[in-house]
Formats: sequence, C-alpha cells, structure tokens
Amino acid sequence: MRNRNAQLVSAAKTALAHAHAPYSRFPVGAAILTRSGAVYTGCNVESSSYGLTICAERTAIFKAISEGEREFEAIAIIAQTAERTPPCGACRQVLMDLAGNIDVILAGGRAQPTVLKLNELLPRAFGNKNLVKAKRRS
Ligand code: THU
Repeated sequence: MRNRNAQLVSAAKTALAHAHAPYSRFPVGAAILTRSGAVYTGCNVESSSYGLTICAERTAIFKAISEGEREFEAIAIIAQTAERTPPCGACRQVLMDLAGNIDVILAGGRAQPTVLKLNELLPRAFGNKNLVKAKRRS
C-alpha cells in the first residue's frame, strides 16, 4: 500500500512538469490508478478565459475514461507547495461520479502523504441515485 501510494505520488510529480499554468502559476499533477493496475496521469491546463481551465484530477480521470477504464482505486495529487493540495469541489464531484469512493492521496513537498477516502472530502454526495429518484416520481 505504501509502495502503491509512493508510486502514484511519483507519477503525479512527473505529470506536474507538463502543467500549463501561465495565469495562476500553480502547477498541479495527478495520477489515478485503475483496478487493473494501469496509471493515468494529468496536469492542470489553463485557458486565457480562466473558467475554461481544467484541473489535473479531471484531466487524469477523463484520460482514463476516454481509454475505456471504468474501475478505479486511488488518485494522488501534488502541487509545488510544502503543504498538501486537496482537490477542488468540482473535481470531488467528478471523481465521485466516475470513480466512487476511492482513496485520495494528498502529497506535499514537506509533509508525508495523507490518504483519505473520497467520501471524507465529499460527504453526502449528490449522484446518479438522486437523479433516479427524481425521475421515478414524475
Ligand atoms: N488546480 C488543480 O489542478 N487541482 C487542484 O486540486 C486545485 C486547483 C488548478 C486549477 C488552476 O489551474 C490552478 O490550480 C489554480 O487554481
């Protein structure tokens, strides 16, 4: 498990080098592990129209989904900061929708990585189950 986490953090660090973050100057890297053992990496890619920016976590999971992956175990996230970088709210929702309650490994320059369950970061998440209920009523 420790080795798995360290490998994912290392892959996330490598992806961070590809970040396109000229506006925020806050490069982020992520690496997501599938059940079958494959790793997909991602970085943030910013747009001059700031809101069109995509975070590292969504880049990673969209890459995986677009390659046919559907089952995930863990994601690691790292920025160039001493502190750990938690995923933004949008990424928490997308990860919950597409990956479920996976392990989220938060890494930082100084501190040891921390591992949380996604439902600790997004308790009582909205999801497909809620949509289904609404549909049934009508
Ligand atoms: N960002 C990520 O890629 N992931 C996070 O978890 C937090 C924020 C990006 C978005 C934007 O390009 C920059 O970091 C500053 O918010």
